[in-house]
Amino acid sequence: MPETALHPLDDPNADPFAIATQAAADIARLTGVDHHDIALTLGSGWGKAAELIGETIATIPATEVTAFSRPALDGHVGTLRSIRTPGGRNVLVIGARTHYYEGHGVRRVAHSVRTAAATGAKIMVLTNGAGGIRDTWKPGQPVLISDHINLTADSPLEGATFVDLTDLYAKRLRDIAHTIDPNLDEGVYTQFRGPHYETPAEVQMAKAIGGHIVGMSTALEAIAAREAGMEILGFSLITNLAAGIQQTPLSHAEVIEAGREAEPVISALLARVIEAL
Ligand code: HPA
Repeated sequence: MPETALHPLDDPNADPFAIATQAAADIARLTGVDHHDIALTLGSGWGKAAELIGETIATIPATEVTAFSRPALDGHVGTLRSIRTPGGRNVLVIGARTHYYEGHGVRRVAHSVRTAAATGAKIMVLTNGAGGIRDTWKPGQPVLISDHINLTADSPLEGATFVDLTDLYAKRLRDIAHTIDPNLDEGVYTQFRGPHYETPAEVQMAKAIGGHIVGMSTALEAIAAREAGMEILGFSLITNLAAGIQQTPLSHAEVIEAGREAEPVISALLARVIEAL
């Protein structure tokens, strides 16, 4: 699609669910896999999980799928993969997340999740790299998301769509993750708009209102996944302690490096959890 063409999701008259259905048809055609059971979005640090989950049936560039965008950042992969687990389930691995901070609006943020639902996925696993507010956490540590606080002041839902968010990050799935690693901590994910990191004062605010993790993704996607009827499991890799909790300045390079170091361990954990879902 030429850069100047109107993005299909930017047409206010377009139905984002119809576009997701088209995207799911593209995925079926390009991968040869007509149905997926589980979808997994890979955030920074989680990339190696794909190889460990099972046999890759197909890898396709996200840009060949209707309304998917190229990732804005290095360290984020722009592919979709279909993987068959040893147990015979099909996992759609999404390496192309559109972040809210890119400024393309909530429809584009929600598109990969809606597409996953349209491929048949009943479970959405969302992963990210994030800052830790708890000072007992260490960079490189994975944490389960127990709930979220959405500080974007936005919603992926349009019109009067009243969706219940109780048990958004399903207790049933978190319990399964705990059977794989009983030491996994849990925390409340706080989504800021970004792309700047938080100020120390904002981190203290997040802490005061019940947040344990700060990041720039996931919450809006989780809401869209719930609307689409999926069960959600969320994981954060703590890549750094949040601003002011750690005494040194934050940098994207540090986030990428922490992800790289933790990748083998957390990816193995994720693959085991997915096999158990
Ligand atoms: N804040 C927000 N997003 C992040 C952080 C952080 O400290 N680390 C990695 N992603």
